[in-house]
Amino acid sequence: MKKSFLHETAQKMVSRAILAADESTSTIKKRLATIGIESTPEVNRQYRQLLFTADGIENYVSGVILYDETIRQSTDGSIPFATLLEKKGIVPGIKVDKGTVAVSTLGVDKFTQGLDGLAKRLEEYKEFGAKFAKWRAVYTISDGSPTETIIERNAQDLALYAVLCQEAGIVPIVEPEVLMDGNHSIDQDKAVSEKVLKTVFNWLASYGVDPEGIILKPNMITSGKNHSQQASIEEVAEITVQVLKKTVPHNVPGIAFLSGGQSPELATTHLNEINKIRKKNQSEYPWRITASYGRALQGEALEAWSGKKENVQKAQKVFLTRAEKVYKASKGQL
Ligand code: 13P
Repeated sequence: MKKSFLHETAQKMVSRAILAADESTSTIKKRLATIGIESTPEVNRQYRQLLFTADGIENYVSGVILYDETIRQSTDGSIPFATLLEKKGIVPGIKVDKGTVAVSTLGVDKFTQGLDGLAKRLEEYKEFGAKFAKWRAVYTISDGSPTETIIERNAQDLALYAVLCQEAGIVPIVEPEVLMDGNHSIDQDKAVSEKVLKTVFNWLASYGVDPEGIILKPNMITSGKNHSQQASIEEVAEITVQVLKKTVPHNVPGIAFLSGGQSPELATTHLNEINKIRKKNQSEYPWRITASYGRALQGEALEAWSGKKENVQKAQKVFLTRAEKVYKASKGQL
């Protein structure tokens, strides 16, 4: 019973795109600062309301990741956000990691906090309507990093998180993010991402995580942001699917990429190109491949809004235009 619920929820989550609207208190503060607005719980609520009430969002978005503050908030008409989404046929989810911490002895490597008390928090989030969760691990490519130590540690933490979610009847989004920051080549990203994903899936299996009841949220394989020669769209797509083919079990129902700082247009084009390859050979790439973008789905809408009431409709239109493109890209139809 529980198992089939997890499988069905996972499939539903990736039927369209997943909106990552789970910016932590410090991240939403940074995002709003780019439009000259100060973040407060009320401003954050108004912004998220703009996104979630966009007319027709459910045509392109099948899941929304919320933050602790947001899952406790409601619309102007007092409808809790999770209820609103559920009514629209969108699966509500929740970020459950508590961010990353640097440890001086580990160099640039960081580990993710949040396992303590997680089982209890999952029960509370379920009461608020969450059907899935998200945990993000980060990896920086730089001299000697990521180390073996952090690759193993992050993978084990992701596995423990995932198994706790499944026991609670919640689908875990497993997010190992190899950052684009740095001047590494696409080949370096390929080597690191492949190792990271292999290690993650090994530990998921060791902890008894059911692969049919998870969603993988990886980075696309790209050149580092500061690398002098940026890989082409075709290279990014080709290398990304090669790595996925080598590392992701066939019974994982879906892969939903993060955008990681790519522009909305580039993240959309890459997703489209990846799905064009997938369409040609679905037996090699059996998973649904979609997006779980934060910045690439929201960036343009945030700018159009600029914190002004009179811009809400315009911003919703801009958001829906991007969401439609991302949805089409998830089918290779652009
Ligand atoms: P970006 O698409 O902005 O990278 O955000 C996705 C996300 O959820 C990061 O954890």
